[in-house]
Amino acid sequence: MKKIALGICSSISIYKACEIIRSFQKEDYEVQVIMTENATKLISPRLFSALTGRRVIVDLFKDEFPDEIAHVELAGEVSLLLVAPATANMIGKFASGIADDFLSTFHLAVKCPVLIAPAMNEAMFLHKQTQANIKKLRETGVRFVEPEKGYLACKDEGWGRLAPVEKIVDTSFQLLHRSQSFAGRIFLITAGPTREYSDPVRYLSNPSSGKMGYELAREALQRGAEVILVSGPTHIIPPPGARIKWVQTAEEMEREVARFFPKADVLVMAAAVADHRFSTVSSQKIKKQKKPKTIHLVPTPDILQKFGKKKGKRILVGFAAETEKVEENALKKAMQKNLDMIVANDITKKGTGFGSDYNQVTLVFPDGKSIRSSKRTKSEISAMVMDVIEEKIGKGS
Ligand code: C5P
Repeated sequence: MKKIALGICSSISIYKACEIIRSFQKEDYEVQVIMTENATKLISPRLFSALTGRRVIVDLFKDEFPDEIAHVELAGEVSLLLVAPATANMIGKFASGIADDFLSTFHLAVKCPVLIAPAMNEAMFLHKQTQANIKKLRETGVRFVEPEKGYLACKDEGWGRLAPVEKIVDTSFQLLHRSQSFAGRIFLITAGPTREYSDPVRYLSNPSSGKMGYELAREALQRGAEVILVSGPTHIIPPPGARIKWVQTAEEMEREVARFFPKADVLVMAAAVADHRFSTVSSQKIKKQKKPKTIHLVPTPDILQKFGKKKGKRILVGFAAETEKVEENALKKAMQKNLDMIVANDITKKGTGFGSDYNQVTLVFPDGKSIRSSKRTKSEISAMVMDVIEEKIGKGS
């Protein structure tokens, strides 16, 4: 499938869209242009129709457009949605999930990577609201090609100038290349906490939100993998396209991992598996008066350790939430569990880790090498993790 959608908004830099289209065509990509109504006031859609040989889409409800270009169908045909130039208005609509024209509706319908190249006046770009919208979109996995500092249409020098066409096109091709890098591979990813019950209403658990595991699943899907997501209870929406297996306890998680492990190429255990469970589980709610004086806990199965022994040619990735000697402890776990990599994070750091949209991690390898990240969104961290897996798959690991 060599087709992309190019969203074009009303910015003076709109003329650069012609060069963007040409660059994709040189690589044999079909380009479906989607313009906003305001953009058509700057340049006639006819120019883009002539360039692409395709009718430009502007309005969601115009009769002149036949059914076959309805937003949902087109969404299944393209491997990238690039918006260049993108205005503050469109970025705001994307960030809020507004769908009141074709482009903003289309954004909600696509599962492919989304890349945005903003272009606007400096004050608008640096406005707190625009920056908050960009941040919000980044957290959902949308990528940006940052605008540059330079001469702006309003005759100001400043930030907000559309990034150079080559940079926009290069970033697009990186994303497009990635979108196929895991084609044919099966990723088994665990996420969220487990719950170990003592009776039907009480359990032992932890604050894992599932965000990290879901972002990893999203990233693997975007690179073309088939994803089986074994998830503990969460309050967030799983990425569309993943096959979800819901579990509660560590033993249920182990059972699902065992079911899919034989056909998996990669196992990523991002779940925060409870290490202990109650030795007995009452089928009835334990009465307050019958409160036990002692509680007996027994270890849960260490899923990763167990499957580490049957690793074969698979790539195994673990997570280590630590409170001290982060890298040292993580390295020990990577070796003990026969992993290719462990993603270590210090959960005592504020604003990252459990429940947060952010994480700061160190990727630790069994040979003692490590890569440290700065504080980044979980979506960006998952891209980092998948880059390493991609490299290992490329080397035939
Ligand atoms: O709990 P621990 O720090 O050992 O967790 C490290 C890795 O092992 C994590 O990837 C976690 O998902 C996995 N794990 C597991 N089964 C357990 C406990 C942890 O697979 N019972």
